Amino acid sequence: MLVDRVTLLEVGPRDGLQNEAQPVPADLKVALVERLQAAGLRQIEVTSFVSPKWVPQMADAAEVMARIQRQPGVRYSVLAPNAKGLEGALASGADEVCIFAAASEAFSQRNLNCSIDTSLERFADVVAGAKAAGLRVRGAISCAVGCPYQGDVSPEEVERVVKAYRAMGVDHVGVADTIGVGTARQVQSAMERALRHYPLHEVSGHFHDTYGQALANVLASLQMGVHVFDASISGLGGCPFAAGATGNVATEDVAYLMRGLGIDTGIDFDALVDAGQFISEALGRPNGARAAKGWLAR
Ligand code: HMG
Ligand code: MG
Repeated sequence: MLVDRVTLLEVGPRDGLQNEAQPVPADLKVALVERLQAAGLRQIEVTSFVSPKWVPQMADAAEVMARIQRQPGVRYSVLAPNAKGLEGALASGADEVCIFAAASEAFSQRNLNCSIDTSLERFADVVAGAKAAGLRVRGAISCAVGCPYQGDVSPEEVERVVKAYRAMGVDHVGVADTIGVGTARQVQSAMERALRHYPLHEVSGHFHDTYGQALANVLASLQMGVHVFDASISGLGGCPFAAGATGNVATEDVAYLMRGLGIDTGIDFDALVDAGQFISEALGRPNGARAAKGWLAR
């Protein structure tokens, strides 16, 4: 028996665009966020307050957050890796902060320039500061089923981060397949570790689609009762510190799956497809959402 409602958290403006080699103008980022909310998305990860030396594409985080026309009922979240990031997040008026420890030591070093333990200490301060300011905190667990440097990642390594998140007061945990290598059974094992410590509505899946498994992994998680998923418009993105990884599962593909299953997402599918076409054309690349291509060709 599947749930009757699924929440999609749109990560295209952040995870989708962070990997773009050419600078994407703030105007375009703002316009994308506005199209996404008009299509019915109620949770949008807008940008990252990270080091501009590490991720130049997110250097305009404050400007983008200041310029979006906020819509009531929409939750706007941002990434923050440390105290400086939190400062930016609070000043921007974000509703939610996302922290992002890795389950793999090697990836932690590449993505955060420190060990998992050090990152967790820094994140604990970010969480305390965010909670004191009344913000919600989401904790992604990168490389929860595979690491580009280490290879396989065990469910125990995932659970270690889940427990640390729980202890520091993180509200929600996101099981992330950063490089899109995981298959259904592995994803279910990682999810199961998160569900030992968090209720179903506070666990989500974040699946990159490198091996074409992301939609299957959404369905495998849905069968466990998980009903919050990150997705990226037109499948944009990747991680600058995970070479070869492609974007997240396309929002249009997940929305189409849910539509077919009779599961409500609150999304206007035509408007969503338009948003995907808009950003794909603006970036000068083919739309990576298979459902959008099919829909437009029908
Ligand atoms: P570091 O070089 O060790 O940091 O990087 P530092 O504290 O030594 O500072 C170095 C410089 O960066 C200093 O500037 C700081 O002020 C500045 P300088 O004195 O040299 O002029 N700095 C900052 N500036 C703005 N905002 C900040 C900030 N922090 C320091 N927040 C650090 C450590 C964590 C900062 C760096 O490694 C970093 O920014 N990493 C973020 C990497 C990133 O954004 N990765 C992609 C997002 S995660 C992801 O995509 C995965 C996810 O989608 C889930 C999944 O798929 O797995 C979430
Ligand atoms: Mg990601």
